[in-house]
Amino acid sequence: MMTDHPSSATILKSWQTNSQSWISSIDQNEIASRLVATNAAIVEAILTHHPQRVLDVGCGEGWLSRAVYAPERTVIGIDGVDSLVGNATKKAGGPQYACFDYEAIRQGKLPPWAPFDLIVFNFALFEDEATFALLKQLNQVLHPNGHLLIQTIGLLEQEPSGWRTEDWRSMKTKYPAPFPWYYRTREDWEKELAQNGWEIRAFTSILHPETGQLLSWIIECARERL
Ligand SMILES: C[S@@+](CC[C@H](N)C(=O)[O-])C[C@H]1O[C@@H](n2cnc3c(N)ncnc32)[C@H](O)[C@@H]1O
Repeated sequence: MMTDHPSSATILKSWQTNSQSWISSIDQNEIASRLVATNAAIVEAILTHHPQRVLDVGCGEGWLSRAVYAPERTVIGIDGVDSLVGNATKKAGGPQYACFDYEAIRQGKLPPWAPFDLIVFNFALFEDEATFALLKQLNQVLHPNGHLLIQTIGLLEQEPSGWRTEDWRSMKTKYPAPFPWYYRTREDWEKELAQNGWEIRAFTSILHPETGQLLSWIIECARERL
């Protein structure tokens, strides 16, 4: 486990460097856990709410925005990497995309299509406390009755919260840069979301349908009524 504290810019830079590899991995359906469970789980979690206006934050090449788009639904995907936003725009399929990085959002640059009734992060939150400053800002563009959905990696109970490095060794595609990310236990997600005013409505473990292995968690929150 890493002990230093990578900045938001360092994490974003690794995604800039890896963007073509990421597009290739998604286009070639290279991530088995997505195919067997996590893609369908997040699509279902979104559609259960019948949202009218969805903000897909850290949308990457846009597959999730496309998957939940419908003519009667506005779907906006934002990401900090130009080339991913460019690829998402090229793939089209209904949603609109724009380049927004998390640090700019924290500084007050908010996406303009508000209010959204659903904001989703699909495997796109990798920072430590900075995550909650980002969520606080985005809360301003969330409808008062809206929901926040986070799908994130879940590990076994003995794994502590902390910084890790993804070396991409398990991928077929070659990735030029390692990627630092902060892992948070279920207990820490629950504690820190509550401390920051988010009311957890559901915390769901997504399991491999055959092996039962924990693949991810989907956390559904409503803003706490003050
Ligand atoms: C694992 S990918 C997930 C992409 C997409 N949500 C999906 O499910 O395929 C993580 C995404 O988060 C974006 N991201 C990471 N750090 C960011 C930051 N500081 N600002 C904006 N986007 C960021 C990356 O560019 C990347 O597209």
